[in-house]
Amino acid sequence: MCGIVGYLGFRNATEILINGLKRLEYRGYDSAGIALILDNKLKIYKCKGKVADLENLIKYKNTISTIGIGHTRWATHGEPNDINAHPHQSMKGYFSIIHNGIIENYIELRTFLQEKDYKFIGETDTEILANFFEYVYLKNKTSNENYSPEDAIRACLQKVDGAYGLVILCKDTPNQLIAARKSSPLVIGSAKKEYFIASDASCLVEYTDRVIYLDDNDIAIINNRGLTITDLENNVHNPIFDKIEVKLEEIEKAGFDHYMLKEIFEQPTSIHNTFRGRLNLKDKSITLGGLQEIFPELVKAKRIIIIACGTSWHAGLVGEYLFEELARIPTEVEYASEFRYRNPIIFEDDIILAISQSGETADTLAAIKLAKKSGAKVIGICNVVGSSIARETIAGVYTHAGAEIGVASTKAFTSQITILTMMALSIGLSKKTISKEQFDDILIGISEVPNKIEEFFKTQTDNIKEISEKIYNKKNSIYLGRGYLYPVAMEGALKLKEISYIHAEGYPAAEMKHGPIALIDEEMPVVVIAPKENSYDKIVSNIQEVKARHGIIIAIVTKGEKNLKNVADYIIEIPETEAQLLPLISVIPLQLLAYYIATKLGKNVDQPRNLAKSVTVE
Ligand code: AGP
Ligand code: GLU
Repeated sequence: MCGIVGYLGFRNATEILINGLKRLEYRGYDSAGIALILDNKLKIYKCKGKVADLENLIKYKNTISTIGIGHTRWATHGEPNDINAHPHQSMKGYFSIIHNGIIENYIELRTFLQEKDYKFIGETDTEILANFFEYVYLKNKTSNENYSPEDAIRACLQKVDGAYGLVILCKDTPNQLIAARKSSPLVIGSAKKEYFIASDASCLVEYTDRVIYLDDNDIAIINNRGLTITDLENNVHNPIFDKIEVKLEEIEKAGFDHYMLKEIFEQPTSIHNTFRGRLNLKDKSITLGGLQEIFPELVKAKRIIIIACGTSWHAGLVGEYLFEELARIPTEVEYASEFRYRNPIIFEDDIILAISQSGETADTLAAIKLAKKSGAKVIGICNVVGSSIARETIAGVYTHAGAEIGVASTKAFTSQITILTMMALSIGLSKKTISKEQFDDILIGISEVPNKIEEFFKTQTDNIKEISEKIYNKKNSIYLGRGYLYPVAMEGALKLKEISYIHAEGYPAAEMKHGPIALIDEEMPVVVIAPKENSYDKIVSNIQEVKARHGIIIAIVTKGEKNLKNVADYIIEIPETEAQLLPLISVIPLQLLAYYIATKLGKNVDQPRNLAKSVTVE
């Protein structure tokens, strides 16, 4: 994870670095630091804690420079403290580097450098890289005075295993930034007489919309002569500029207390943006442009394997129910981290579907590469345009949910499900596994979801806030759902866990009898997603089983449903919709419930402890 910013231009680099780090802090916030060239010398300021702590550290320091690098860390090697904070400087002070990723052969490199009398002050893998660059640079410089810092960096990176997004300063080239990328994202922004480097484009939008997404093994050299990109063998590549689609207002809080709350309330708009231009109400059709070429193979697919992590995995679980019910295609949903290591059976005619909001999740990316090696076709559903997963897959669909800043994923989840529903409908109609009438009903249902969510917010937000005040101090929770609502129960539990730190588990409702029911007592809130659909009577029985054991029942029911009024302790009403669309609507109260409980507990909702928005390390 971690947030990376670099700047070379005519403005005050420190201001740009700090501003950028604040926008990227959702990617990791264990520690923060900057390195500047001051009077031709490398100067580093860094500390444990947030970017605000770094701002306090440098408040009265000399930080006027036109070149610098900045980092906000999510620790992988070495605890979060001042010494392990980035930037890391090499022992003799030639190099200062910031890094996103993991150097897998860092122990071997450290042993080699220790034999060359290098000393290390921290515990990170990154510090080893800084010293490796310096060792190779100084060793070759003695025999070849033209040997450059970038020559040393290329030579070193050919011997490095693992993932890196790097920005590097060298004191011998005080007006030059070097960036290098392998598996961890880096984007370069270019404006008139200035260059920006960042982990993602969201912090560049206020300066430029001209960007280049670095590819694996790219080395970018930025100096007063401009930008050069080479590979590790020093073959020059011609930079191809893209245009950023993220808008500044998207990454502002727009008056909400937290990004997460803004993004929850954005869902009528984000879902509409997801199907806009793809779902045609007039002629009742769906067009997913990014899948057009591969569509015939989707229709013929004998199996779909969905790979994802976290919330995206929960969306994949909804996808399994959709593809199997509407398109009758056997579908498996795999945790990417398990899939990549368990030597899975992958057939050439399998369709692998990767789902990822950030498009940078290391496990998902690795699983894609494994699947491609087996000859399977890999398609993607991503939210971040130009992300690594988007570029690694042969086709795909962008969710168009807009920048999702809150670490807890909300609008990306509902946009992912919207895409999956449109995919399953299109394939089902083409295969005639659903009738045109069924297709039309669900298509119209999708178009009505935004208004239904707006209606829900109007009538239920205060009710949910009141319920959160009744159960915020409970130490555990169970979430239950059946069919399409089982993945939603899992997602609701994850939301509560990750922002309130309350232990919660999601289960298929019937599964409760096989063990978890032992947990039920008067201290256990049980959230049951029980809208009117074909397993309604069954889930009402499950609710009775909870009631008999004095569990605290929070029932999500279809608006107007009175059956559970005297059974549940609390009722949350959601608008009626097609069974296949219930996940889109029923997840919203669970997102809000988690949000209000977490804020009642005073938790940092947008940057929960130990988490980061994009898990770009294993
Ligand atoms: C969800 O709220 C979490 N932030 C996390 O589980 C996330 O869904 C997971 O890391 C996958 O991220 P991705 O969708 O960007 O691949
Ligand atoms: N592996 C490096 C460290 O632990 C970088 C972690 C990150 O990507 O933030 O410091």
